[in-house]
Amino acid sequence: MNWQKSAYKTNEKTLMDLFDNKMSAIILENFINDEDCQKIEEGLQQIGLKHYNYQYNIDVPEAKHIFDTHYLYEHKKPEEYFPKAKETNLLYHAFCDTINFDPFLKVQKHLSNNWTKPVQIAKQNNNDYTHVIARELQSSALLHADFAQFIPKHWSISEIIAQYAWNIYLTDPGIGGECVVYNKLWEKEDDQYIYKQTYGYDEKVVEGKESTQIAIKPGSLVFFNSRNFHKVNKSQKMRLSIGGHVGLTSAGNLLMWV
Ligand SMILES: [Fe+2]
Repeated sequence: MNWQKSAYKTNEKTLMDLFDNKMSAIILENFINDEDCQKIEEGLQQIGLKHYNYQYNIDVPEAKHIFDTHYLYEHKKPEEYFPKAKETNLLYHAFCDTINFDPFLKVQKHLSNNWTKPVQIAKQNNNDYTHVIARELQSSALLHADFAQFIPKHWSISEIIAQYAWNIYLTDPGIGGECVVYNKLWEKEDDQYIYKQTYGYDEKVVEGKESTQIAIKPGSLVFFNSRNFHKVNKSQKMRLSIGGHVGLTSAGNLLMWV
């Protein structure tokens, strides 16, 4: 199979091929309809997107979000993260009640329908991880990779053996906004190329690697292997999406968190 090709349907084979990095993405257009896209966007705007509280001392592109992610807590203690996770999960459920729609649940059900083993929200000592984030990335996102196996071992999600990201795009970003994915899985030694603390790698890390550009269409659900280096191009207009991570355990279960 040619890596640069995407799959346009979800089944056990395409999901497994994506974990095995045999292809670049699974793209499902019209996963949600225009009306639901608008409903989600309006609901998010009502809560209000806020700037990330990055602890970086170097400039990073402006990014706004709603709901917390585990990523910003990965070097902190679980006692600090899980109370925040509970808060953010409550906020997400209140949001779903308001718009009468749960996009995360739709993705989880979609995966469950196409996977034999359980598809669950990641847990630790009975606490749910955060599992959905809304992001506005018009100003771009730097080159990076996401792979929980490399995070400190006191997190249960570090047991995953492969990982991808899911995103539902909500707005038309106009010119630009593509998600660029490189056929280059993150290895520990690549960290010599980090130039912005834990986020942002020098393009040298992907030099000579094939890549694909995923165009953004509102209503699409896209899965890609997030252990591959990826970045988001700057766009002309607002680029709002909702998404999270899916991890494969050695038992074959799928875990969802963000
Ligand atoms: Fe990412």
